[in-house]
Amino acid sequence: MKSEIIINKGKNQVIKICNSPKMFKKELYIYKKKLPYTPRLIDNDGKNTLMLEYINGIPIMDLAQPNFVKITELMINLHSLESKGDKCICHYDNNPKNYLFANGKYYMLDFSEWLYDFPETDLIHFLLFWASSYNSDKFKFVFEQVINTYKSKRMINPLEWELILPEIILRFDSRRIKFGKKQAHPDISKNREMLKNII
Ligand SMILES: Nc1ncnc2c1ncn2[C@@H]1O[C@H](COP(=O)(O)OP(=O)(O)OP(=O)(O)O)[C@@H](O)[C@H]1O
Ligand SMILES: [Mg+2]
Repeated sequence: MKSEIIINKGKNQVIKICNSPKMFKKELYIYKKKLPYTPRLIDNDGKNTLMLEYINGIPIMDLAQPNFVKITELMINLHSLESKGDKCICHYDNNPKNYLFANGKYYMLDFSEWLYDFPETDLIHFLLFWASSYNSDKFKFVFEQVINTYKSKRMINPLEWELILPEIILRFDSRRIKFGKKQAHPDISKNREMLKNII
């Protein structure tokens, strides 16, 4: 955990106490945009604590069939908010726990690490979680849906993709070790090979 979370379901509120002022500022920056696919910001103390609307949802990894078109649309929307040259606002921590499904809608949470980066960073990082969990048939479907949906609205730079893929895999693996995550699916190598074939 990067922060302390207190959930009050009765009041429909979540209190997030951030570990650092930097994390807090990052979260506030995004929540102040009042995006339709993030929890509503109810209050904040200007230092390290946010009060957010509680989303009574299911983490997308727990869904039988997440709608990857709709999930990719969240990313497209986030990436389209601001740009700095070829870089845009990237979520950066694309752990599926940070995406919830509630009342027919998908939500994004946890903007404590966002940064201006190449959009390919988020796409690769997001896909790595599914490459670790799904068999190769299911992963192929996810890969194609995410890439085709993204490409219908925004560009993917294949050279950038190829250049940053190894460093994102390293970041992903080192975090998995750090947080002692469960064993990966036996198809992980095959799935990661698929990730190299971006066109
Ligand atoms: N507004 C919210 N509505 C519903 N659930 C929430 C909300 N905010 C946080 N949660 C739940 O608490 C978990 C942790 O919250 P969050 O990701 O913001 O904190 P974190 O400290 O960054 O956690 P982690 O290190 O696990 O990413 C989320 O994965 C989600 O299950
Ligand atoms: Mg989180």
